[in-house]
Amino acid sequence: MKKGIVIYSKTGNTLGVAKRLAIKMNLEVMEVKVENDDPNILNPVLVEAPDVSSYDHLVFAAPVHGFNLSKAMHVYLNQLPDLSGKTVDLFITHFFPFAWMGGNRTLKQMKVIIEGKHAIVNQMTSVNWKSKKREFVISQMIENYAK
Ligand SMILES: Cc1cc2nc3c(=O)[nH]c(=O)nc-3n(C[C@H](O)[C@H](O)[C@H](O)COP(=O)(O)O)c2cc1C
Repeated sequence: MKKGIVIYSKTGNTLGVAKRLAIKMNLEVMEVKVENDDPNILNPVLVEAPDVSSYDHLVFAAPVHGFNLSKAMHVYLNQLPDLSGKTVDLFITHFFPFAWMGGNRTLKQMKVIIEGKHAIVNQMTSVNWKSKKREFVISQMIENYAK
């Protein structure tokens, strides 16, 4: 089974977590890149959009921006072709103290897009950057996602 990790990260938090997961899974992190990463741009132009067609299992991850999925990941996921037959795990990183301040909503947004492309979404994790439990949540997630 071929596995891959695709993320968008503006300030490095999501990337840092993804790199740890990638080490555990013995993979490279594939990054979505935009022409201009001003989070206020509604439809950012993708300059790097990893091709996931050859993967059986994918982890997608991104930060929460303005209580929503960051636009870069939103645009990336929407432009993906059909994902039938693939399984997916998700994680997001966010900063505000409660999951309802963007985390849960963002995971749901990702799930809806991905299921709309006929992949099966399994595990989902919200990593709160300000939480005292952050390290615990990340370590547990890495254990579970790398199984
Ligand atoms: C423009 C902008 C908007 C943000 N909006 C939210 C938000 O609505 N809720 C939240 O919990 N965190 C918010 N954050 C914090 C980021 O989600 C958090 O710092 C995240 O870990 C950043 O990930 P990155 O370093 O991979 O870009 C926002 C950050 C930025 C830059």
